[in-house]
Amino acid sequence: MTRRPLIAANWKMHQTVPEALTFLDHLLADLSGDEEAEVVIAPPFTALEAVGRRLDGTSVQVAAQNVYWEDQGAFTGEVSPLMLKQLGCRYVIIGHSERRQLFGETDETVRRRLRAAGRHELTPILCVGETKEDREAGRTDDVITGQISRALEGLYPDPLRELVVAYEPVWAIGTGLTATVDQAQEAQAHLRLLLARITDKGLANRTRILYGGSVKPENILALMAMPDVDGALVGGASLSADSFTGIIHF
Ligand code: 13P
Repeated sequence: MTRRPLIAANWKMHQTVPEALTFLDHLLADLSGDEEAEVVIAPPFTALEAVGRRLDGTSVQVAAQNVYWEDQGAFTGEVSPLMLKQLGCRYVIIGHSERRQLFGETDETVRRRLRAAGRHELTPILCVGETKEDREAGRTDDVITGQISRALEGLYPDPLRELVVAYEPVWAIGTGLTATVDQAQEAQAHLRLLLARITDKGLANRTRILYGGSVKPENILALMAMPDVDGALVGGASLSADSFTGIIHF
């Protein structure tokens, strides 16, 4: 099964609207439009509309960095899947480790967000990953197994028609420490087997599993050579159009 690679920029809390538009001018000038990889940009909520408009009609897709699980209501500060859909979002990042560590995200809230995304045909980019302590204690497989199984509980077959998974070891995020290609492959092969068990072989084979954690133009090629690495979720190196296009054109 050939899976189209996916390279996604997670801008986190970076890029004002003018900065985002300048970035896109550079990015679009560097893309031919028929890249092998699907390219996705996840700007902060405040830049979603401007980025969506600028990318409309291009080959680049837009993602949100989070979503609430209700469509509307008295939920001050939250953004609904309906609102994201209306802005032209195709993807939404769910369960990023920064949300889990800093904002009290749990497997239960991840599951609710996944269900809401599925209801509105937003494809979730579900993030999982172990901490340094987990890895040192040999708990990597247990931790990511728990995260995936609890997140997907009760969600299969509907609304799980399409899913992207991002394996992001917490110790590799923003640290310059990339997982070795073998560490990434081992965890990602494990995630695919698990997906086949929880859902079905077809979905497991179709699902793109991205690696995230200090991805740069210098290390993307080796990562992409691994059979279960289908792309990357890029933080720091996605903030400059030069380094991001270097990653896209691995
Ligand atoms: P860095 O690429 O900055 O390590 O961040 C990875 C990440 O968290 C992407 O979601």
